[in-house]
Amino acid sequence: MRTQVAIIGAGPSGLLLGQLLHRAGIDAVIIERQSAERVLSRIRAGILEQTTVDTLHAAGVGERLQRESIVHDGINIVYDNQPHFIDVRALTGAVVTAYGQTEVTRDLMDARAGSGLPTHYEVEEVWLEGMTGSKAVAHFQQHGETRRMECDYIAGCDGFHGVSRRSIPEDRLREFGRAYPFGWIGVLADVPPASPHAVTYAHHARGFALCSMRSLTRSRYYVQCPSSDRVEDWSDARFWDELALRLDARTAGELITGPSIDKSIAPLRSYVAEPMRWGRLFLAGDAAHIVPPTGAKGLNLAVSDVRLLAEALIEHYRERSDAGIDSYSQRALRRVWKVERFSWWATLLLHTFPDTDDFGRRMQEAELDTLTQLESASRSFAEHYAGLAF
Ligand code: FAD
Ligand code: PHB
Repeated sequence: MRTQVAIIGAGPSGLLLGQLLHRAGIDAVIIERQSAERVLSRIRAGILEQTTVDTLHAAGVGERLQRESIVHDGINIVYDNQPHFIDVRALTGAVVTAYGQTEVTRDLMDARAGSGLPTHYEVEEVWLEGMTGSKAVAHFQQHGETRRMECDYIAGCDGFHGVSRRSIPEDRLREFGRAYPFGWIGVLADVPPASPHAVTYAHHARGFALCSMRSLTRSRYYVQCPSSDRVEDWSDARFWDELALRLDARTAGELITGPSIDKSIAPLRSYVAEPMRWGRLFLAGDAAHIVPPTGAKGLNLAVSDVRLLAEALIEHYRERSDAGIDSYSQRALRRVWKVERFSWWATLLLHTFPDTDDFGRRMQEAELDTLTQLESASRSFAEHYAGLAF
């Protein structure tokens, strides 16, 4: 097999890159460890920045998004039992869009299948070779057969646990990170959302809580839990009780409960690997960095990496210029670090840490007052939430 760009991973990063390259007439083959059904069954992000929505439209996959997404003016922050609305639209002109990662992935898979583009699912034993040579090779096993794909470039879009980042020699990679001493237990349920706003973030002495939605009949809720908790520790009843305790009385009063259709625990971490390029290998999305989900940025950051990478590869093939691919890592990382900072800051502000003392609690409350009452602070938050410019 031979292609111009071998893409490792069929999550949102890999599929979007494949779509953008296809529209520019560049050949790409995607290989994915899981089945398509398994990729679509993972319930993850739900909030799209304006820049992400614009990129999906530019990629030709905006039709269902336009029809089915729910567009909101802003988000709610609850503390001291009071909701505070941050009007993102009034402060920035941009809107907040609720549309699940699963739907983005499905739209991209459908577009790819519709164009007859090759995606190899359920591949095993992927290993990469030749990143500093004259051509790169991705080796893998499929249905018991060993296969070999030669290419000009490899796009490592295979998430945090993928093979791409691990293919970079240790002495060429610098890693930065923080693990937080808690996770989020998330529940998906076919009940109408408790709040009309896109997202409600609640800061409470018992821990953080979040209300979000996938549609007007499907809600997504999270509560902060100790890292050591397991899904079995959280019956539906315990989850709903705990969520209600952490919300303001009005939102809690609107909460409609029902059986969970998905329940999982996600650990919270911040992580960045530098650089995002090694020879013929480029990293994009979770393969290069992780943000705690507090700012709703993981998927959006993956999309902005891919947009930069696609532009760079298109410039290479169309204009025979390597300026874009040579500056990809540096340009992507500048944005990555700003989004890492926002996600880290929002995590510190909104969660209860095991060592939060009375002083720490007062600092969080004063910062929440500043955020919700000082227009310049609300504006800065809104600008980050809506998505930083490129
Ligand atoms: P991924 O979606 O991880 O896709 C990578 C793909 O590569 C996967 O399909 C994987 O199977 C495949 N792969 C891995 N190894 C190989 C290999 N060796 N060969 C071939 N393929 C391989 N973000 C939010 O904003 N809000 C949230 O609520 C939220 N919740 C999350 C919950 C969890 C459990 C996780 C893990 C992430 C969550 N995120 C959330 C983050 C967001 O979902 C990610 O940032 C986003 O999925 C990144 O997309 P990606 O395509 O870069 O990586
Ligand atoms: C979600 O809808 O899953 C969601 C929303 C906002 C976040 C994180 C997750 O900050």
